[in-house]
Amino acid sequence: MRRIAVIGAGQMGAGIAQTIAQHGIHVMISDIDRAHAEAGKATIGKSLSKLVGRGKLEADDAEGVLSRIEPVGDYSPMAEADLIIEAATEREEIKKTIFENAGKVLADNAIMASNTSSIPITRMANYSPDPSRFIGLHFFNPVPVMGLIEVIPGLATAPETTDRISAFAEMLGKQVVLSQDEPGFVVNRILLPMINEAVFVLGQSTAGIADIDKGCRLGLNHPMGPLELADFVGLDTCLDIIKVLYKTTRDGKYRPAPLLVKYVEAGWLGRKTGRGFYDYTGDAPVPTR
Ligand code: 3HC
Repeated sequence: MRRIAVIGAGQMGAGIAQTIAQHGIHVMISDIDRAHAEAGKATIGKSLSKLVGRGKLEADDAEGVLSRIEPVGDYSPMAEADLIIEAATEREEIKKTIFENAGKVLADNAIMASNTSSIPITRMANYSPDPSRFIGLHFFNPVPVMGLIEVIPGLATAPETTDRISAFAEMLGKQVVLSQDEPGFVVNRILLPMINEAVFVLGQSTAGIADIDKGCRLGLNHPMGPLELADFVGLDTCLDIIKVLYKTTRDGKYRPAPLLVKYVEAGWLGRKTGRGFYDYTGDAPVPTR
């Protein structure tokens, strides 16, 4: 794969574009408009500067990575791409519009992939021009650091598409877990009920935020507790995923925790808004309960 396009320049899209560019590949990045795409590139620039500051990356190499990232204002340049990766908000209607519009320029042999965390691939494949070249490619945050990519073929995905995408994921230095197209795939199916349950535990005042996280950090050896991880992923994203699990399975064990719904309604979405279960406006995160 020589040229790749990423649609969505938020936390995941920017991380995906950074990782691709760090592996020597030219990557276009787009969002609702060119200004948002440029902002995504600026975020990557900051992330690379931090690595340079910590002596993890040479300044010249950081420049090289940035030079391979091309913000674009619309989908037309993506006609050149071998692979288009959608990493937009976790809402099916938004993704549908993207697949239909970007599908108009998808080259004959190119693949369209979705970084969805939970929406069925088989269904979304029908919004693209060729379901045999449509696949799920699920990255983990922070993308440049995390070692896993889930690859999710839909019912109509051609084996050749799965092979090409798995080879691409490995070329990025990631390990692949192949998942059937079931709600939440493998990792989020396990992770989101844990995060949701942590919010129930908080809502029932069984323990406070700091202790819930401490319990899981020390008791389970997780690098982050479930509430700090929820803030890191984004509480809106967490709620979107648990809602998809609930709606698609109708299993009550996935019922969203009422407190999670409230936090999202309050606009307390985690790190990206400066407040979630923790307040991030000072020098160090402070638990809010
Ligand atoms: N680019 C490249 N490298 C980066 C980077 C970036 N943007 N950000 C951090 N790094 C590197 C650092 O240089 C450092 O490298 P080193 O180990 O060689 O020194 C390493 O990553 C760790 O970074 P930090 O020292 O800054 O931070 P911590 O040691 O505190 O670790 C963490 C941060 C990696 C985020 C760790 O806390 C962690 O693993 N947390 C859990 C993350 C997790 O579970 N992610 C999955 C979320 S679920 C998901 O994404 C699915 C979605 O569908 C919801």
